Amino acid sequence: MLSDRLDHASLDYVESRDPGQGRLAPRARYRSDAMSLDLNGDWRFRLADSLRALTPGFEAPDHDDSGWEHLPVPSSWQMRDIAGTPRFGTPAYTNLVYPFPVDPPRVPDANPTGEYRREFTLPEDWPDTGRGVLRFEGVDSAFAVYLNGVPLGDGKGSRLPTEFDATDALRPGRNVLAVRVHQWSAGSYLEDQDMWWLSGIFRPVALLHRPEDGVGDLFVHAEYDHLTGKGTLRVESDATGRVTVPELGLDLAVGERAEVPVEPWTAETPRLYDAELTTAGERVRLRIGFRTVTVSGGLLRVNGTPLLLRGVNRHEWDPDTGRTLTVGTMRQDIELMKRHNINAVRTSHYPPDGRFLDLCDELGLWVIDECDLETHGFYLNGWRNNPSADPAWRDALLDRMRRMVERDKNHASVIMWSLGNESGTGDNLRAMADWSHERDPGRPVHYEGDWDSGYVDVYSRMYADHAETDRIGRGTEDPTTDPELDEHRRSLPFILCEYGHAMGNGPGGLSEYQRLFEQHPRLQGGFIWEWIDHGVRRRTADGREFFAYGGDFGEVVHDGNFVADGLVFPDRVPSPGLTEFKKVVEPVAIRVDAAARTVSVRNGLDFADTGHLRFHWQVEDEGVPGGQGELTVPAVAAGDSIVVGWPRELSEAADAGPAGAERWLTVAARLAKDEPWAPAGHEVAWAQERLAPGAPVAAAAAPGTAGPAELRVDGGRITLGDGVFDAGTGRLVRLGTVPVEGPRLDVWRAPTDNDSRGRHGSEAEKWRAAGLDRLEHKVLSVEPGEGTLTVTTRVAAAGSDAALSAVYRWSAAPATASEGGAGGALRLTLEVRPLGAWDVTLPRVGLRAAVPAALSSVSWFGAGPHEAYPDTRAAARVGRFASDVDGLQTPYLFPQENGSRADVRWVGLAPAGGGEGLRLSGPSPFSFAARPWSSERLDAAAHPTELVRDGLVHLTVDAAQQGIGSASCGPGVLPEYRLLPAPTVLTVDWAVWGATAGTE
Ligand code: GAL
Repeated sequence: MLSDRLDHASLDYVESRDPGQGRLAPRARYRSDAMSLDLNGDWRFRLADSLRALTPGFEAPDHDDSGWEHLPVPSSWQMRDIAGTPRFGTPAYTNLVYPFPVDPPRVPDANPTGEYRREFTLPEDWPDTGRGVLRFEGVDSAFAVYLNGVPLGDGKGSRLPTEFDATDALRPGRNVLAVRVHQWSAGSYLEDQDMWWLSGIFRPVALLHRPEDGVGDLFVHAEYDHLTGKGTLRVESDATGRVTVPELGLDLAVGERAEVPVEPWTAETPRLYDAELTTAGERVRLRIGFRTVTVSGGLLRVNGTPLLLRGVNRHEWDPDTGRTLTVGTMRQDIELMKRHNINAVRTSHYPPDGRFLDLCDELGLWVIDECDLETHGFYLNGWRNNPSADPAWRDALLDRMRRMVERDKNHASVIMWSLGNESGTGDNLRAMADWSHERDPGRPVHYEGDWDSGYVDVYSRMYADHAETDRIGRGTEDPTTDPELDEHRRSLPFILCEYGHAMGNGPGGLSEYQRLFEQHPRLQGGFIWEWIDHGVRRRTADGREFFAYGGDFGEVVHDGNFVADGLVFPDRVPSPGLTEFKKVVEPVAIRVDAAARTVSVRNGLDFADTGHLRFHWQVEDEGVPGGQGELTVPAVAAGDSIVVGWPRELSEAADAGPAGAERWLTVAARLAKDEPWAPAGHEVAWAQERLAPGAPVAAAAAPGTAGPAELRVDGGRITLGDGVFDAGTGRLVRLGTVPVEGPRLDVWRAPTDNDSRGRHGSEAEKWRAAGLDRLEHKVLSVEPGEGTLTVTTRVAAAGSDAALSAVYRWSAAPATASEGGAGGALRLTLEVRPLGAWDVTLPRVGLRAAVPAALSSVSWFGAGPHEAYPDTRAAARVGRFASDVDGLQTPYLFPQENGSRADVRWVGLAPAGGGEGLRLSGPSPFSFAARPWSSERLDAAAHPTELVRDGLVHLTVDAAQQGIGSASCGPGVLPEYRLLPAPTVLTVDWAVWGATAGTE
């Protein structure tokens, strides 16, 4: 029973599909000179665990709230003190499953409800005339508002603004605002986005003065005709007034149309014109971008030019404050995006804080603005009672669309409206599209969930694999379910609104997608899923920081670390995936032709020429900088190419340098001057070409230099060169003075998220079933020879008759292996052969070894500086790099294989303070990883804080690695990157590294 003093009827809105009562009509968000009062800050707060536990009369101005707690507005109450001991419940994560019984529009009795109160004083100069409007930018999920005890109304639609007329309840001087916010409401059924469930007044609140003769709504129509170079401007409004654009000399009446030459707005050239709409009562500040969006000739165009979207899906996230973001954080997101060659954002899956769109206009991003709608959980019940198809929900869905379009319609950056995400099919979606087309014919409509695409303007899909994407690009895709719609869909441009699932290590296969996008005009790019890991910053009992994911708050139903699938970590540190994406989508393609001594530059931008870039060349010998200089490249128009010859200095540098060193040329395109999103010198694109191969590594020790090494058998030990072996196992135990857990065959890796999940079953499960994580090594023979040691083993898992034959052949290494050392180096040739029937891929084929943790200082010549796997290799460049072992780890929220460096020619490990270390090199490049823990521990840990150091540096040295793919949501590893068991030879030279070599 509800408390007697609560009016039952007053709570009916919670379980009503009705989007709200007492609200004002939706309108554009704009900046005006009218007075306003910021109501953010410290509010009084009480959390009731159900509607039965509400405070009777909480809205009364004289209600005594002195015993209540405090909560900042805007914020989500679950995020309060989240790092330590959360005060008001905890976040809960589910992807599609509703965390409550599906019984729309009813919600559980356990419905945490926040009671909020704050006093404010109306400024003395607050005008007597006009109206007062309370504006809530976002309240999750349903709420009711009282001013001085007077009910103003209620609302839903968490990520959309709601306004109430407060005029009649407003008092001079002291006012008391009371708001009740429910975690669950009928609206929750429409807000089943893959993210944390969070509640509260999480976006700003203000009291706005609305002057008499002021502006209600306004709609800026600013188009650009690319044929004439003219813009047309018409500002529609319910107010009478004038629109001035000083820079264009325009002074127009509301509704009047003008046509003038303008510079168009594009995401590459975000030209905005300051303007003002002046009425008798108000001045509104506008920033106008002229551009025209069309779908014509089967292509999505802006100002007549087809776009190539290099996009990301962006949720709003901050590890400490959840979906409440500062403007600084919003700007940081956009700067990071622009610095990584990203040109588009899909606001998955709800309209962002409006200030984000201001910044998109200003800094330049193409935006798909998506409505706050997702009903994905109905899928688990066969889409029964899906709100998208139920007329009872029609108003609620239309209300959301209307509120988004009205709020954001004046943003140049918004080029498409999206109806929402994963809400099945149904007439209510069609109604939203129809309404939008009618209200704003200037923007195409997007929705992915209805593959027949009858009422949308682009064909959109998520996670289509490369082969299907290619068919769509060629126009040879399977027909629609409804044959009548096929022709329409074939006429549409295509985007992948989600692809490249950035969960954990990866995603792999991005270059192959990009090639398809560039090959087929119909494929206009896509949006990586997703921008940021939604990890919640927490502390362990002993004070160590980590990022929590689903299940870490004891949720009964949850989807684990599926919430951590972004290109940046929760603290916005870029992951290797972002660096890879930056390279894959770089807008300027540089190619070096060493034979012709030319550099070609293709401008892949859609609008801007390359005048904002300058080009730089650098020659390196085995990673050591040689000559460098500027390369003069005349500005290349969008879509054009140029070939320039090398300057004399470059030719000279290319021909100079030490003999026998591997020489590389790197050409980079950098910003010529500061841009609002990056400083001058920021690198936009680059390419490398090898100018000279290194001297071939000798096949065996050259006579008279290092060997053949002498072999001695002494009790349980065998000594060969600098190496000491266990005579029983044939394993190396020491090299020089460095104790070594000798190299042996290893094929296991701690499964990545992409290894562990998959549409067609998990690769990691197959690996485990085959016992690849528990292989036993049986020594068949240890054969000392003339300066050689041969160890033959059979490596297999319990219960299986399939095996890998591993033969280790040790001999003296060529003198070159001992660089910086004193000779006595050893060469190991590992020969691996599959025996019996193998029907799984292998995670890797290589060696593992361990050395003391003191050897923490690592340097290498190879690809870097960050991790790279066969299908995430684009962004790694050849050079000389150094790091400590800790710095080589990539801290994925869920520990997994990471940190492998590709194409390594040599790697040295030495004590940080100097002293004897180890150098590995080989005639063919290999991959290596060095970790303070074993693969097994990496595999066992659920959070980085659970990783235990064991006093060793664990090394893996690989001939091959399985690719990464994107199977955590999407296609797995492409066939060319799958690692099938096959005869493999890996040769590695092991040398003592001189006391000073580690610090070079
Ligand atoms: C999509 C969905 C996203 C997210 C992603 C997987 O199906 O639209 O919201 O759940 O999959 O991370």
